[in-house]
Amino acid sequence: MTEARRRPVSGDPIVQLRDVHMGFGALRVFEGLNLDVYPGEILTIIGGSGSGKSVLLKLILRLLQQQSGTVRVDGEDISAYDEGRMLPVRRKVGMVFQNGALFDSLTVYENIAYPLRERGVDDDAFISQRVGEVLEMVGLPGIEPKLPAELSGGMRKRVALARAIAEAPKVLLYDEPTTGLDPINVRRVSELILSLNRRLDVTSIVVTHDLASAYMISDRLAMVAERRIIAVGPTEELRHSADPQVRDFLSAMDYERRAE
Ligand SMILES: Nc1ncnc2c1ncn2[C@@H]1O[C@H](COP(=O)(O)OP(=O)(O)OP(=O)(O)O)[C@@H](O)[C@H]1O
Ligand SMILES: [Mg+2]
Repeated sequence: MTEARRRPVSGDPIVQLRDVHMGFGALRVFEGLNLDVYPGEILTIIGGSGSGKSVLLKLILRLLQQQSGTVRVDGEDISAYDEGRMLPVRRKVGMVFQNGALFDSLTVYENIAYPLRERGVDDDAFISQRVGEVLEMVGLPGIEPKLPAELSGGMRKRVALARAIAEAPKVLLYDEPTTGLDPINVRRVSELILSLNRRLDVTSIVVTHDLASAYMISDRLAMVAERRIIAVGPTEELRHSADPQVRDFLSAMDYERRAE
């Protein structure tokens, strides 16, 4: 795969987690996790199964709440926000969930229109134009009337992506966007994440088990282990790191990938 021209990070973080402690009862998921994500970058989060990657994304959307520490999104500390105050923040953050999560009984059109309507958009002409635009952006023009069951796995992921960008978010979260796809679709979806990031000027946080895709698209990589981020940095720096912990981690991931 050809690799992206990496973007250097600059400015104030658009997403920032500080000293985050989070768990479920006796299970401790994070103890003192810190992470800064900068405007416009693609940051990929890698880590073992169960290390807390999905939990991390859900903390940014406040679908889950940490026990202590702060989470900032676009300058706002959302730690103590109630659901009402989260609404405008959620509008800035789009998420492609781990299992695609399209409504099977709704057409592609209705799947993409749904979150727009839920947030109070009721101008049908606007919705129709927006649905057309985002389907065009993901390379699936004209499939509005189809049902999810009529689409391939790769097309479903791209529709989920179209839905996530419909509200023009500032931050896009992707939870394993390429899992379960064949190599051609892995590449297609990876290239799409990259081109949307550059075209829409969004900040993208991607969780993946796919190292090849991570190397291809990421400006920076962050590794989750031991209940925190153990390493973060520019993709090439981490990829060729001499740090034994980073090297062991990447070769274990590479092994896991080959074993799949
Ligand atoms: N809602 C929940 N209630 C209780 N435990 C949870 C909940 N969500 C996650 N967990 C637990 O938190 C830990 C981290 O889960 P998470 O889903 O973030 O892992 P992950 O890194 O995304 O794994 P995978 O790569 O398999 O998707 C796991 O032990 C999981 O069982
Ligand atoms: Mg997960």
